[in-house]
Amino acid sequence: MRDSTRRTFAAGIAAGSAASAWSSPLSQGANDRVRVGLIGCGGRGRGLWRTFLSKSGVEPVAACDVYEPFLSRAVGASEGKAMPFRDFRHLLDRKDIDAVIIASPDHWHALHTVMACRAGKDVYVEKPLCLMPHEGRAMVTAARRYNRVVQVGSQQRSGAHYAHAIELIRGGAIGAVHHITTHWTRNMMPGFRPVEIGSALPPTLDWDLWLGPAPKVAFDPFRCIYNYRWFRSYSGGQMTNWGAHSLDIARWALDAKAPDAVASFGARFVLNDGGETPDVQQTIYSFPGCVVSWVSREASAGNTTLLDFHGTKGTMTLTREGFSVAPEIWTGAGANGKDPAMEPLKELGGDLDSSHIDNFLACVKSRRRPNADIEEGHRTAVMCQLGNAAMRTGRVLRWDPEAEVVIGDAEANAALRWDYRKPWTLAE
Ligand SMILES: NC(=O)c1ccc[n+]([C@@H]2O[C@H](COP(=O)([O-])OP(=O)(O)OC[C@H]3O[C@@H](n4cnc5c(N)ncnc54)[C@H](O)[C@@H]3O)[C@@H](O)[C@H]2O)c1
Repeated sequence: MRDSTRRTFAAGIAAGSAASAWSSPLSQGANDRVRVGLIGCGGRGRGLWRTFLSKSGVEPVAACDVYEPFLSRAVGASEGKAMPFRDFRHLLDRKDIDAVIIASPDHWHALHTVMACRAGKDVYVEKPLCLMPHEGRAMVTAARRYNRVVQVGSQQRSGAHYAHAIELIRGGAIGAVHHITTHWTRNMMPGFRPVEIGSALPPTLDWDLWLGPAPKVAFDPFRCIYNYRWFRSYSGGQMTNWGAHSLDIARWALDAKAPDAVASFGARFVLNDGGETPDVQQTIYSFPGCVVSWVSREASAGNTTLLDFHGTKGTMTLTREGFSVAPEIWTGAGANGKDPAMEPLKELGGDLDSSHIDNFLACVKSRRRPNADIEEGHRTAVMCQLGNAAMRTGRVLRWDPEAEVVIGDAEANAALRWDYRKPWTLAE
């Protein structure tokens, strides 16, 4: 770590701002530069940062993390151009930042996004969007109120082969799609282990600022880097982690705001590592004319296929690498039981992250809505959040997408809220 980075981290505030302009970010269309800041420099932040900085016209201005080694790494990746910050509020104070990349843990996304919008920044925020529906609604409201471009990190939305697959499905190419099955499976037996940080709290980590709005608990290395996903105070397990990707594509294909009904079962049956979220979970969604089934499993990999659309004429398997359609053969009454109902189809995928970032940068300049606009991200996040609420209550939940409440179920609505630890608040 450079000395200046270390000093800044200890002080919790970057020295001297080099703010060059007080204009509203890019609203004056002054030039092709997009001056960016990164909040959350861990695994995902590192990859996004690298891709953003590879784009022409992108200028790194600042990076922020509460863990010094990752912050230092991000500053290094910018060749020292990014000013380091431990406290994101100081980064947001900078007037010379047009857009922020938010790759912090899930429990921070709502606050980071709302406060960035208020500070006049456009936002690229990672999925899963947030923990609960009221946070997602607050994020949408902030984006619209402050006229900000907010792209959610559902990079599939910018994949050409995904767009083509959706067009084919919606156009009836594989017949009536009545069943969508999605899986995310791997074998993590006997459990996850802490990443990066040893058992004692290092001076290079600001644990209180890592927890932020979440309940105060003693430092636990297993709760921290990457593995926060398995704790309900910070995330929603694979239901929201990978569900945010697969179920977003399913909902996109169905062109639906929300499912009519949701049921879910699961638990942490066998992983023995202190995590809370299920290692096996199956969630079933009912949409008009279509059932969507989500399975996550961390204890046996089995068939890891991610996403299948079952149509009356063919079944499409859609992954990041591409899609293929296996034609169906009709064997019912009046069918000949031999001829396929359609020709097979196959298409390869491309670089999703790069396309998604290109789309975001183009929208920052044009002020158009991005491919994974915040409202769409919110609807998909709700779908995942409902899965966890259905599992916790053990009931079939029916969601009112206009009022954004579970119909007639106070316990489920209570399970879909969380209160921030003071002084953190989403209120103005
Ligand atoms: N779109 C994708 O394909 C994709 C892939 C991986 C991860 N993600 C998402 O990216 C996010 C980050 O995941 P990760 O795997 O990089 O986790 P990570 O633990 O590796 O990184 C998170 C970083 O945020 C930092 N952080 C915590 N609180 C902070 C704060 N208040 N201010 C600034 N930084 C703070 C942590 O110290 C850590 O360095 C998650 O929401 C995850 O779901 C998306």
